[in-house]
Amino acid sequence: MPKTTTPEIEVLIEREEIKEKVEELGDDIYQDHKDYKELNLVTVLEGARTFSKDLERELFNHGFEVNNYFIKLSSYGSGTESSGHVEIEKDLEGNIEGKDVIIVEDIVDTGLTLSFLRNYLLKEKKANSVKIATFLDKYSRRKCKVPLDYAGFEVEDKFVVGYGIDFNEQYRDLDYIGFLKF
Ligand code: IMP
Ligand code: MG
Repeated sequence: MPKTTTPEIEVLIEREEIKEKVEELGDDIYQDHKDYKELNLVTVLEGARTFSKDLERELFNHGFEVNNYFIKLSSYGSGTESSGHVEIEKDLEGNIEGKDVIIVEDIVDTGLTLSFLRNYLLKEKKANSVKIATFLDKYSRRKCKVPLDYAGFEVEDKFVVGYGIDFNEQYRDLDYIGFLKF
């Protein structure tokens, strides 16, 4: 394989800060759902898998039974710009009709993906209610308003990677969040 030039990565959020934030988000969700026995998460693959696993553990430690449903969406072709067109690559397994669900997302950028998914879960899948938990919020890029119930960190308009988030399938396994210096 010919070597390609690798962009440098600058650390934005350290592993320790990530851990603390996930605990905080778990506490916030717990506070709002004290009378619930089970929680239903809808995790957006692939990027949110890592965050979702950690969040699920927090919620489990708070005493919830957690059902985690997975959906694979694509809005990015390759590269760093959203195509604006969202497709379902792999649909949920299982029925969420009548359930209160929490979408778990890695990062909200334009908001197009989440506004599509929110609608889809309410209208097509007939969820009773949909809340949103995102690890990162790139607020300055928002094109489409979406209500974020739980958000970890706001990040600047930079392409970030790590903690499950990729750039063309690379850098997912970094245990910190960094940004690419192209
Ligand atoms: P949106 O539809 O523009 O909000 O884009 C949401 C999706 O784009 C996220 O679920 C991510 O998968 C991806 N995305 C947005 N910004 C970044 C980034 O900085 N790094 C990696 N993926 C990103
Ligand atoms: Mg995503």
